Amino acid sequence: MFENESINKKVDTLHTVSYISKFADEIEGVVLKYSKVDSSQSNEINDIHMLDFSNGKTNLALQHFVPLNTRKKAGIFFTGSVLADKVTGFIAPLLKKGARVIDPACGAGNLLLSCAKHLPVGKSLTETLCDWSNLLYGYDLHYQFVRIARIRLFLLAAFLHKEIIPVGLSVKNSEFRGIKIKDTLSLKRPTAQADCVVVNPPFGYMIAPGSCQWASGKIQIAALFIEKILSSGPKGQHIVAILPDVLRSGARYKKWRSIVSGSASHLDIEIIGRFDDKTDVDVFVLHMVTGKSNKKFTEWYTEKSRSSRIQPKISDLFEVSVGPVVPYRCPHKGNWCPYLDTSSAIPWSIVSKLPNRRFKGTVTEPPFVVVRRTSNPGDKYRAVASIITGSSPVAVENHLIVLKPKNGTIKQCIKLIEILKGASANQWFNERIRCRHLTVSSVKEMVLME
Ligand SMILES: C[S@@+](CC[C@H](N)C(=O)[O-])C[C@H]1O[C@@H](n2cnc3c(N)ncnc32)[C@H](O)[C@@H]1O
Repeated sequence: MFENESINKKVDTLHTVSYISKFADEIEGVVLKYSKVDSSQSNEINDIHMLDFSNGKTNLALQHFVPLNTRKKAGIFFTGSVLADKVTGFIAPLLKKGARVIDPACGAGNLLLSCAKHLPVGKSLTETLCDWSNLLYGYDLHYQFVRIARIRLFLLAAFLHKEIIPVGLSVKNSEFRGIKIKDTLSLKRPTAQADCVVVNPPFGYMIAPGSCQWASGKIQIAALFIEKILSSGPKGQHIVAILPDVLRSGARYKKWRSIVSGSASHLDIEIIGRFDDKTDVDVFVLHMVTGKSNKKFTEWYTEKSRSSRIQPKISDLFEVSVGPVVPYRCPHKGNWCPYLDTSSAIPWSIVSKLPNRRFKGTVTEPPFVVVRRTSNPGDKYRAVASIITGSSPVAVENHLIVLKPKNGTIKQCIKLIEILKGASANQWFNERIRCRHLTVSSVKEMVLME
């Protein structure tokens, strides 16, 4: 690392710590305020419940005190109550029986809190605190988060026992001692002691370590977290993870998916959509039980898209590729030819008149279909298409995906764009790929339902 980079990194870390401290002070301030009231009075309990236990309030404080850029760099996005409860719903029966659970990226404890609501409650607060301390584990890089997670769990236990919260509350060292500052990725077997793992790992990117078997270069940290968890836990461990959709749908993570599938005796996927209204990342929930794979989980789509795989796919009838012209990079050299970019590809039209440019690379003989690569799950149409006709081969810009009919007919192109305009195509793409662009593989795999 160059000297400047290293200084910038240190400054970034200091800023992050100072923002997180402000967040922690705010939460602790609320706790202190309420430690002066009698929590056995039901209306006060409701207030305490809202302020300290609800993930929503903690998330608002986080958003207020820690700027978005800092949260993005450090991968700090806390799970809202609805999603947290969905995650713990997968393992609720086990938690009720007293299973040990770990969150190896626990933040302020949103997932652990949701788990704790299912744990057995003892005869007294002391007994509950002792039992829960043996069942709940968590790691985070930041001391303040670990502290807040432990305080919130203490408050939840006190709330369930309708106990008065002690003035100047401080959690004893022995209480929730398994929730501590650790770098999960640097541990050999971080989740070895648990029956269940719940995790919403950081979603940032990093350079793959030399030991990475499934990719090189830039990779999702979340994928590495899951690999670490898989290599560390006992057989039969339940893992429930909130993960970015690119891990489910991206071609780059195919090998990672097959490693994960290969370690699962049970695996199911639930597509969630946007993480929350402030975070524009689509996520899914992975629930798996580690063990001998029964090889059923080769694709990570939902049951619906998996069952429709017997029907023909686009790649059965079309050659699919990305347009080769990168406007700012390709020199205006070679033969003159018609040139198609997103401004000339009028959506849902048959385009025959195009401007010309010189181009040396691969050109496509009409007729063919193009689909815009930019595509959002919220869009009216996920695959916006046009048909290109004419007598000369066309140079196509790289923001477009080219679909050339194998039988060479315009009839095939028309049939395809009718399908792409239909609701089932949107639904298919929304299940298959929640990123903000379409990939060649997602287009190839689209099932041609009428
Ligand atoms: C996306 S947040 C999730 C927090 C919490 N589990 C939740 O769902 O609200 C990820 C957390 O992981 C922590 N983290 C990032 N890298 C880590 C690492 N290598 N080891 C442990 N924790 C890490 C961050 O500080 C952050 O609090």
